[in-house]
Amino acid sequence: MTPGRAAESSPAIRLRSVRRVFPGGVEALAGLDLDVAAGEFVALLGPSGCGKSTLLRLVAGLDRPQGGEVAVGSPAGAEHRGVGYVFQDAHLLPWRTVLANVALPLELAGVPRDARAAAARAAIAQVGLADAATRLPAALSGGMRMRVSIARALVTAPRILLLDEPFAALDELTRHRLDEQLRELWLASGMTVLFVTHSIGEAAFLAERVVVLSPRPARVLADTRVGLPGRRDALLRTTPEFVELTRRLTAVLATEGSASR
Ligand SMILES: Nc1ncnc2c1ncn2[C@@H]1O[C@H](COP(=O)(O)OP(=O)(O)O)[C@@H](O)[C@H]1O
Ligand SMILES: [Mg+2]
Repeated sequence: MTPGRAAESSPAIRLRSVRRVFPGGVEALAGLDLDVAAGEFVALLGPSGCGKSTLLRLVAGLDRPQGGEVAVGSPAGAEHRGVGYVFQDAHLLPWRTVLANVALPLELAGVPRDARAAAARAAIAQVGLADAATRLPAALSGGMRMRVSIARALVTAPRILLLDEPFAALDELTRHRLDEQLRELWLASGMTVLFVTHSIGEAAFLAERVVVLSPRPARVLADTRVGLPGRRDALLRTTPEFVELTRRLTAVLATEGSASR
């Protein structure tokens, strides 16, 4: 799906006045609004501890707000099936092969063996790991383990993919490579992607739209359309357009950071 076509349909994710206060009074979200269109790639960029993971968990249906509305999927109502979630750590089962790790969500859902193996192979191919299907996690690099984790999220063919700082623990070159592969995957799939990061460069490189969040409780400080080309490669990071975008995002974060201290 092209971003242009996506903009015409109703939002895939719709948050209204969402509030989440943790026991002890820690206010992570104090009335947040956000719409994500079907097929869009949105990066949520904000400082550590501002409430990004809290927001993503609410969208995934792993947590509930104290106030406001979280609507995911069809306009008919909250629909959390069809959502894939990728955590910061790969969380693979060390005794299972890549194939068996990726097939796990289907196994838990009771999908027959042959069907789940076929779906797992397809998801593994999507992340470029077809040759590693029979390996154990210990025999993989950190970047490969993360790709397995993404394949496991893709195996149920979700319409919406949520990623919570998935590449933060990887070295910079590996992270850049995975950023490129994730862009390609998005271009090919038409999924709605919501990607959480505290990296300005990563948000700018990946997304069609960057939503900048304030320190806790997270508020939307800026909502920026990224006017960069659809296909993006490593050299894009050196172009004046990219540098200018990261400069603007840096300025938004820096102003708010100093104002809140
Ligand atoms: N289960 C919890 N109980 C209490 N406080 C929490 C819980 N989860 C998150 N918090 C607090 O809420 C704030 C936002 O957390 P989080 O959403 O994880 O931030 P981010 O992902 O942006 O780093 C932080 O101050 C964090 O300590
Ligand atoms: Mg987090």
